[in-house]
Amino acid sequence: MMEIFKTIRKDIEAETLDSADAIDAFRIRYLSKKQGKITDLVKGIKDVPPDERGAYGQGVNELKKLASDRIEKAKTDLGSSDSNHRDVDLSLPGRAPKLGSLHPVTQTRRLINRIFESYGFTVEEGPEIEDDWHNFSALNFPADHPARDMQDTFFIEPTDLEHGGIMLRTHTSPVQIRVMKDGKPPFRLIAPGRVFRNESISFKSYCLFHQVEGLVVDEGVTMADLKQILHSFAQAIFGDDVRMRFRPSFFPFTEPSAEVDIWWTDESLADGGRWLEILGCGMVDPNVLEAVDIDSEKYTGYAFGMGIDRIAMLRYGIDDIRILFENDERFLDQFA
Ligand code: PHE
Repeated sequence: MMEIFKTIRKDIEAETLDSADAIDAFRIRYLSKKQGKITDLVKGIKDVPPDERGAYGQGVNELKKLASDRIEKAKTDLGSSDSNHRDVDLSLPGRAPKLGSLHPVTQTRRLINRIFESYGFTVEEGPEIEDDWHNFSALNFPADHPARDMQDTFFIEPTDLEHGGIMLRTHTSPVQIRVMKDGKPPFRLIAPGRVFRNESISFKSYCLFHQVEGLVVDEGVTMADLKQILHSFAQAIFGDDVRMRFRPSFFPFTEPSAEVDIWWTDESLADGGRWLEILGCGMVDPNVLEAVDIDSEKYTGYAFGMGIDRIAMLRYGIDDIRILFENDERFLDQFA
């Protein structure tokens, strides 16, 4: 019987433990609960005659200690062995931690905020989940207006005409309603935020994008004020010699309404450039003022709404809106 102790002792001493894997295999071979050779010896004690059990137990314990000691020593040797540290050159400069950068949409939003703050506008926010009244009804959308259609709106609770519905806001205009409902004129604010539309996704439209709403309500506000502020804004963003034009348009909540284009120089085009739409605007429709209990005889106002993503794409020469939402570091790193 003591023969087997000798054999196992020799085996243990002969093992080469020069890697973490080898140490692990060794531990399993000798000490694992299921199949370890030493564990088997421990289990075998019940077949040993009672008067030999003392010596047997002692022999097993010695083997156990021998195996554990070898594991400990091998681990220490491995940890301090030169081969592990051979590749470290302490004289090399350290690696700088990678810094993130602001997303181009965030940079553009902040720039737009700064410009309007310099004109005395406040910055307001509103919820991304809206009800029918704020997103549509109070903004003078007729009950059967196609913009309420399932095509464009992500409904959370579908609209029924009596009670309205709950939806992801389709534009930032409901913030106009919230601010006017809660306060008293004059108002002079912008409201940046995310908006959502159930449109098919392509290089030029995405189901989620960013807008900045603008609203000014006071006594004697005119379309000339609107044109002046938007022209100053376009100069601040695109340079003093920017060319812009107002095109008649339609929105339920403004009357008259216009869309603003800027001239984008592009030598590869026959005309040397083209008109690009950057925002919608107009004089606040009296029905909207009445919906929020503002006297439309006394007060007038203008409003505008522009796409932040569109302006970011122009500023940086990005030709596919989807890349703004992909979080691809190779793209984002360029805006550090
Ligand atoms: N809310 C409009 C849109 O999303 C933009 C707009 C805002 C137009 C304010 C006029 C006045 O398209």
